[in-house]
Order: sequence, then C-alpha cells, then structure tokens
Amino acid sequence: MLIESTTLWDFPMQNYGKIPHGNNKYNGVTPAFVIWNLLQRYTKKGDFVIDPMAGSGTTYDVAVELNRKVKCFDLNIVRKEVEKADARQIPLRNDIADFVFIDSPYSNNIKYSDDNNCIGKISCEKTEFFDELEKVAIEIKRILKKGKIMGWLIGDQWIKKKFTPTGFLLYQRLNKHFETIDMISVTRHNQTSNTGVWHYRARKYNFYLRGFKYLFIMQKLT
Ligand SMILES: C[S@@+](CC[C@H](N)C(=O)[O-])C[C@H]1O[C@@H](n2cnc3c(N)ncnc32)[C@H](O)[C@@H]1O
Repeated sequence: MLIESTTLWDFPMQNYGKIPHGNNKYNGVTPAFVIWNLLQRYTKKGDFVIDPMAGSGTTYDVAVELNRKVKCFDLNIVRKEVEKADARQIPLRNDIADFVFIDSPYSNNIKYSDDNNCIGKISCEKTEFFDELEKVAIEIKRILKKGKIMGWLIGDQWIKKKFTPTGFLLYQRLNKHFETIDMISVTRHNQTSNTGVWHYRARKYNFYLRGFKYLFIMQKLT
C-alpha cells in the first residue's frame, strides 16, 4: 500500500486488507485508510496514539496493526478496547500523546447513543456545537506532546435548503490553538444520500450532495 501523495484521498471501501478495522456497520465509521495514512506519515513504531471519539475503534485496529501504542475513548461503548470518557475530559495527563486522530460528529444528523453529553445531539447550525468542539480541541492540545500532530475529519451540512460550512467553522476554532500542516479532501462514499433519487433531486432542485469531508492536519507548536 502506498502513502497518499496528494491532498485528494479517495478510498472506495471503509476497510482495507482482509481483517476488519473498526466496524463498517457503525454509524459514521471512519475509512480505515485515512488513519493508516496519518499514522504512516506522522508516527513511528511504539508511538502513543489517542482517539477521543473512537466509536467502533477503527483507530485502535489500525494502530495495533502498525505496532503503535493506542488508547481509544468514546461515550458510546461498543467494544471493550474503547474506554468510556467524554472527549472534553480525556483521562490522560498533559503532553503524553504522539498523535491524535478524531472523526467527530458534524451535526445532529446521526444518532450515536442516548448519552446526553454526545456532541452529535447538537445541530451545527448552533454556535454551541463549535463551542463544544473547541473544548475538545483544547483537550487534545493538552494531551499532545509539543510539536506533535493531530488529524480531524469533518463534513459540511446541507439540510432543508440551508448550507452550513461546518468544516470552515470548525477550522476557525482549531486555528486558534494549532498551526496548520495541511488540509485534505476525503471523498465520501456509501452515505445514505448516494442513491439515484438523491442525485436526481440534487440536479432538479439545484443543490449539491456532499462529495467530500475535510481532514485538517494540525500541529501543537506551543
Ligand atoms: C463519526 S463517529 C466516530 C467513528 C469512529 N472513528 C469509527 O471509525 O468507528 C463520532 C463519535 O463521537 C462520539 N462522541 C460524540 N460526543 C462525544 C463526547 N462528548 N465524548 C466522546 N465521544 C463522543 C460518538 O459516540 C461517535 O462514536
């Protein structure tokens, strides 16, 4: 497998290889190759990798396979390798992580769990959504070692004729705390709107289906 060389990443499947990485039945599961690419570029064997919103544990599986140490957290526990914690209060000491990956909710479009602290219960049309994600960003910065990198995956929203640039609005918050290394567009596949009727509606009613997500690659400098 080759490391991606451009800022456009397009993986047709959630998984790679024969063994599952995460669970492709989990709502909002991350394409495993995104994490594989980030770990190849920004970590080495033995490095400590954290995912504070780990869901079905895609980060866990990729990190273990690549001989990285890893800890995964989420409010919604679907496997024992993922520990219960709120991403705004990660139970780790300062300056401990070599890399953080996070694929956060990008609005209230998906139900992850009944937990009232789930940020996926807040619409991205509300400022509160970005206030809460900024708390997560500050917490990620706290646990990262100086000079180390995090990758944050997020998509925009178009719903009921209203576009919200969720990615740009999050980026404004991240930019307050981190230096930008680069931004990647990750092609979206397998979303529920990827059907003939939605493509027809997008053309007829003059709107766009979401074709990509942003992957912000950010560095803790100070
Ligand atoms: C897009 S999913 C992550 C998918 C995961 N990377 C995977 O591959 O399975 C977003 C996750 O954020 C979690 N989440 C939402 N609010 C949270 C919070 N305050 N603390 C921790 N996890 C949270 C949800 O439970 C959900 O699992």
